[in-house]
Amino acid sequence: MTTGESRALILAAQEALENAAGAGPAASSAWAPGRCTLVGEHVDYAGGQVLCVAIQLGIAVALRRSTTERFRVASGENVVTRIEAGPRGDVGDRVLAPVVALRERGIAVPVVEVGIAATLPAGAGLASSAALMVAVTAAILRLLGLRMTARDLAAVALSAERDVLGIPCGPLDQRAVVDAPAQGALLLDCATGAEVSVGWLWPEAVLVACDTGTHHDVGGAEYRRRREETESGLAALSVEGCQDLTEAAIVAGHLDPAIERRLRHVMAESRRAVEGADAMRRADLVALGRLMSASHRSLRDLHEVSTPILDTVVSAVEAAPGCLGARMVGAGFGGTVVALVTLENAEACRSAMADACGGETFLLRPSPGVAVLSPDVVQG
Ligand code: GLA
Repeated sequence: MTTGESRALILAAQEALENAAGAGPAASSAWAPGRCTLVGEHVDYAGGQVLCVAIQLGIAVALRRSTTERFRVASGENVVTRIEAGPRGDVGDRVLAPVVALRERGIAVPVVEVGIAATLPAGAGLASSAALMVAVTAAILRLLGLRMTARDLAAVALSAERDVLGIPCGPLDQRAVVDAPAQGALLLDCATGAEVSVGWLWPEAVLVACDTGTHHDVGGAEYRRRREETESGLAALSVEGCQDLTEAAIVAGHLDPAIERRLRHVMAESRRAVEGADAMRRADLVALGRLMSASHRSLRDLHEVSTPILDTVVSAVEAAPGCLGARMVGAGFGGTVVALVTLENAEACRSAMADACGGETFLLRPSPGVAVLSPDVVQG
């Protein structure tokens, strides 16, 4: 199953490939969506719960066997050619990391040429890396006539990002990109790996987003530091994950104040994600919006991953008519703000966001993940 948008993007990826490498054998292709967290940010690496959707913006990949024994990656104006798939510090790194991850699993991936096209903004907190690596992995499997379970597909993409590229991310993005349901959100328990689908059945509310144009920093020092601080706090309290934290244990721990703030964030944020799923089941949009805004305040004040520009955009849209709640999305330190708004006020809310930062705004629609879209992914 492909949507009109993903079909058009796949054609653009094929065109990018042929423009860079010339006409050749038919390409194997795949499309993967981005993700938008609703509630549950910066808890995946602490064994927390996350409520998220995949979105209609995504990345398409077209690839074929190379006839020159050189990898080639074509993305917009950028074309890189190389002999090895391993990271080298250019735009080919993220594209070819799944080749390394698949080979490490014993799959004989040949040298390939890859064309990329995207509607998902890169580095905006909407999981563009995970979408890219899931799409490349799916296209390689298709090229080789192999099938994989959804769990393994997400695991390969995560290993490409974490083990091959050394980015210390949690499992959220890959699981959302692969497993998001057709019409709703995914509540993902990062302690057990279990997931539950929650329907999104309200025509009267939409998600609007604003890419502030400032860059976030997964792989950067601050994300790594938040993860290390959180993990050191959990270890100091001898607690496995943030779902086992209690207020009393945090107080009794006499922790460094910054570590204490990180633990308060992950404890409350994971609970908010579960409450958000309950609010969705009750179709209580007001409650979901409040939880989104509470999530932002916690990311700003306790986890300290927001920025003045993100805070300004959140405040501006919260003050607009019909806004039920708003927050930064993804790792933070820049990127995107998302707001839950009533349909009739969507344009006013978009204007409020754009006026606050001059960034681009768009509607986000829940999209199915790759496991739903792709016939090569077997359930499991
Ligand atoms: C990035 C990481 C994810 C997650 C989010 C924050 O997107 O890749 O693993 O930690 O930040 O929730």
